[in-house]
Amino acid sequence: MSDFEVLMPAPLTPLIIDGLAATCTLHKLWEAADQDAKIAEVKDRIRGLATGGIGRFKIDGDFLGKFPKLEIVSHMGVGYDSIDAKWAGAHGVVVTNTPDVLNDEVADLAIGLTIAAIRLIPQADRHIREGKWPKGNFPLTATLRGRTMGILGLGRIGKAIAKRAEAFGLAIAYTGRNPQKDVAYPYYPSAVELARASDILMVVAPATAETKHIVNKEVLAALGPQGILVNVARGSLVDEEALIAALRDKVIHSAGLDVFVDEPHVPQALIDMDHVVLLPHVGSASHHTRAAMGQLVVDNLAAWANGKGPLTPVAETPWPR
Ligand code: 8YV
Repeated sequence: MSDFEVLMPAPLTPLIIDGLAATCTLHKLWEAADQDAKIAEVKDRIRGLATGGIGRFKIDGDFLGKFPKLEIVSHMGVGYDSIDAKWAGAHGVVVTNTPDVLNDEVADLAIGLTIAAIRLIPQADRHIREGKWPKGNFPLTATLRGRTMGILGLGRIGKAIAKRAEAFGLAIAYTGRNPQKDVAYPYYPSAVELARASDILMVVAPATAETKHIVNKEVLAALGPQGILVNVARGSLVDEEALIAALRDKVIHSAGLDVFVDEPHVPQALIDMDHVVLLPHVGSASHHTRAAMGQLVVDNLAAWANGKGPLTPVAETPWPR
């Protein structure tokens, strides 16, 4: 038994569970018949948390504060909006995420979803399965030709999407907190200005208080009746009610959505619309990439346990301090 004890509140992949079991003492909270009793039993020994997945507990200050010896939270995912990283930073706890290893996978999916939403690939598949082809050809669709993709959040994944979109002949524009040096794409200071200049609005920014509902009614109106919204970030960036209304009233042409406000629940209004493409949050979900992400969850905890510091700390908990 290692004296580095880690609690995993919700089940992660076998690669992570086996990797951690080999390097530390791992407590699987979800397996406990009484999870509160399990926390009370181990709380004074826990030095690391391995988070991600769907569990009973929100990883907020209340939860993190239950573990007085907590040193590190190793999170599965590049987005760590489910963790109160500010609280962690203020209490000397390091948070790590899994950046970079998923950039290409998510970018591939983002482009696939864009094409699916414009050329109606799932709908065309349904045309065959529903026996409609012998009765008539699938209708002509909108096109990617001559379009501008506006990227909301030109970070590491956003840049990987831009590179692919350029290869498809799209013009690129972006918005973010600031214009970036060394980026030649036109910058727009707000989401609404970017939407006005774009045909495809690609949402790929982190979920924060500042980005909540950044895509609202006004932005959707600016995107316009030929516009396509693609969201591979988090549901919270889009005002889902406004989006449903915009799709229903043809304020925008269509949408490709990999993320939703209340996953895994998708509003029935979206399910009922045939002109949107819906995916169950699969941006990074290949065996290859989930293995790389999982290995990084393990490696962050192992590096920390061996006194080498975290490998990929988040901005709120920089290292060295
Ligand atoms: C998964 C993701 O939701 O990396 C992210 O931020 O959204 C996804 O890869 C998840 O984190 C995997 O557990």
